[in-house]
Amino acid sequence: MAFRWKGDLKDHHVTDEALWLNRRQIIGGAGGLALAGLAGRARAAEELEPNSWEEITSYNNYYEFGTDKDDPKAYADALTTEPWSVTIDGMVDKPGQYALEDILSQMTIEERIYRFRCVEAWSMVVPWNGFELADLLNMAGVQSGAKYVAFETVLRPEEMRGVSYPVLDWPYVEGLRLDEAMNPLTLLATGIYGKDIPNQNGAPLRLVVPWKYGFKSIKSIVRVTLTDSEPPTSWNKANPREYGFYSNVNPQVDHPRWSQATERPIGGGFFAKRKPTLMFNGYGEEVASLYDGMDLSEYF
Ligand code: MTE
Repeated sequence: MAFRWKGDLKDHHVTDEALWLNRRQIIGGAGGLALAGLAGRARAAEELEPNSWEEITSYNNYYEFGTDKDDPKAYADALTTEPWSVTIDGMVDKPGQYALEDILSQMTIEERIYRFRCVEAWSMVVPWNGFELADLLNMAGVQSGAKYVAFETVLRPEEMRGVSYPVLDWPYVEGLRLDEAMNPLTLLATGIYGKDIPNQNGAPLRLVVPWKYGFKSIKSIVRVTLTDSEPPTSWNKANPREYGFYSNVNPQVDHPRWSQATERPIGGGFFAKRKPTLMFNGYGEEVASLYDGMDLSEYF
């Protein structure tokens, strides 16, 4: 099937943006059949027009390299991403330090086109390549009693010029409830547009949770820990009034300092019309049931 690859992305899988867009048109002309194969979760992808490589890779947040939107692109090249390993520990049957290439050889890499919604009220559409977090967790064997997954970003002061400033409590950490982590939408991304993910976007492995605000997408992951208690998250530690554990995209619950009802799509020019933000970023059919009975203004 056109959009599934087994294992690592090799040179012959690399598609430049022009070829990629062309391929999309061909597939679109065939009635979107290939995409339909990715089940309901990719349905929205047929309507989504991805942002350009340039937009996706030159305007983002990775505070370990500085707090300006163009700092990650300017400074993240300093990060060494090979070799890379991920420690999987806590409540798992097979804890250990796994080499990334060994993980990738077990995983099916596929393409997912997801809406991205930043808490700062701008948005993009990104064609990710990656594998389901659930596949990694199943490989490690989640023990009964585990309720949450904690993630940690690499911390290398000698390669990360931003960590000498105490803007956040380093290393960057994030967390998901286990059922959120197991949802088939939740991706560990290794690429964009079929190319290796660039350092500024979180190479070599970063989380993508499309129904949550972008800051849940922890970059350059080195540790995944299964626990029975809610793990700390960097933005919640920095400012608990403004950033909760859940961070679901919710147009009805505003950030204390600005509205979350609309968003500014990046790429349409500064005067592009704002769009109404969708509940759960448009993925409600797949994930709303995870929050049945919860007051989302309390658990924001
Ligand atoms: N991960 C780390 N390690 N450090 C960060 O500063 N920033 C977060 C998140 N992940 C951040 C991080 C924020 S605020 C956002 S909006 C997204 O990454 C941006 O992700 P993007 O590169 O996909 O745009």
